[in-house]
Amino acid sequence: MSQTMHLTVTARTEEPGNILRLRLARADGAPLPPVAPGAHLDLHLTGEGLDLWRQYSLCSDCDQTGYYEIGVLRDPKSRGGSEAVHRLAQPGTVLEVEGPRNHFPLDEAAGHTLLLGGGIGITPMLAMAQRLHALGRDFVLHYCTRSAGVTAFRDLIANAPWAGRVVFHFDDGPPGQKLDLARDLPPPAPGTHLYVCGPQGFMDWVIGTAEAAGHAPSQVHREYFSADVDTSGAGFEVVAARSGLTVTVGPKDTIAKALARAGVKVEVKCEEGVCGTCVTDVLEGTPDHRDKFLTEDERAEGTMICACCSRACSKTLVLDI
Ligand code: FES
Repeated sequence: MSQTMHLTVTARTEEPGNILRLRLARADGAPLPPVAPGAHLDLHLTGEGLDLWRQYSLCSDCDQTGYYEIGVLRDPKSRGGSEAVHRLAQPGTVLEVEGPRNHFPLDEAAGHTLLLGGGIGITPMLAMAQRLHALGRDFVLHYCTRSAGVTAFRDLIANAPWAGRVVFHFDDGPPGQKLDLARDLPPPAPGTHLYVCGPQGFMDWVIGTAEAAGHAPSQVHREYFSADVDTSGAGFEVVAARSGLTVTVGPKDTIAKALARAGVKVEVKCEEGVCGTCVTDVLEGTPDHRDKFLTEDERAEGTMICACCSRACSKTLVLDI
């Protein structure tokens, strides 16, 4: 069950590749809520005029309850969240945290698991590798980065009892050493599950190739950290059924913003369709899904929508809000 906590930064480690590894614990050292591989924390970044929520996957061993660890890539092209974490999260800093939440659960009964992490997308894979090893499951972790010198968590991996399960792929490496999906993906099978996390281009490539090769979408698990989301399109109306209000969503507007102007609050965090915070039930109308959060089955059902970015195919959407 997710909850709000105030956690102290108890260790801060600069990893290669502009990645900061943070250890968070309760000030009194009391145990933290249990967590499963694939889970993330929501960090509330305040101060210096900021009021941002950002999501970071847990990379620590889920079997211990004394601390959580996350990895944060400083991305100058981001909207300010990652740079704020690098600047503000010093040893002793207290951070408001919500979670843990898990939209990327691991099927612990799978006969074979392939973990594919690109860059900072390695973080949830580390927690998954630790759990799969503890369970004695068959797995391989493919870790892709630009070069060896910017590869984070190498010490952690080198010292892990599952280090032999990890295959590194560097963009500047010799031929044959880069990830080759024709070679490295296992054949589709009922007990084979794939997990993918990383930059959007990497994920789209892996997911598209795996599904084209016959892997069932329900067995190609994915977690997007961010997405280039196009929120533009023709205007439409949204009826907030519980509030009894109707608003117009303009061509460059979003449902969440249009509702907020009318006084109807939709909780929003990532604002780019990856975290699921803003998911709202649809009572009538046809959503035009622009997010990366809902599954293909959920999209096809049409009963939910990410109000931060998705739009409508119909003239009107009636939402349960
Ligand atoms: S706020 Fe994250 S998906 Fe909408």
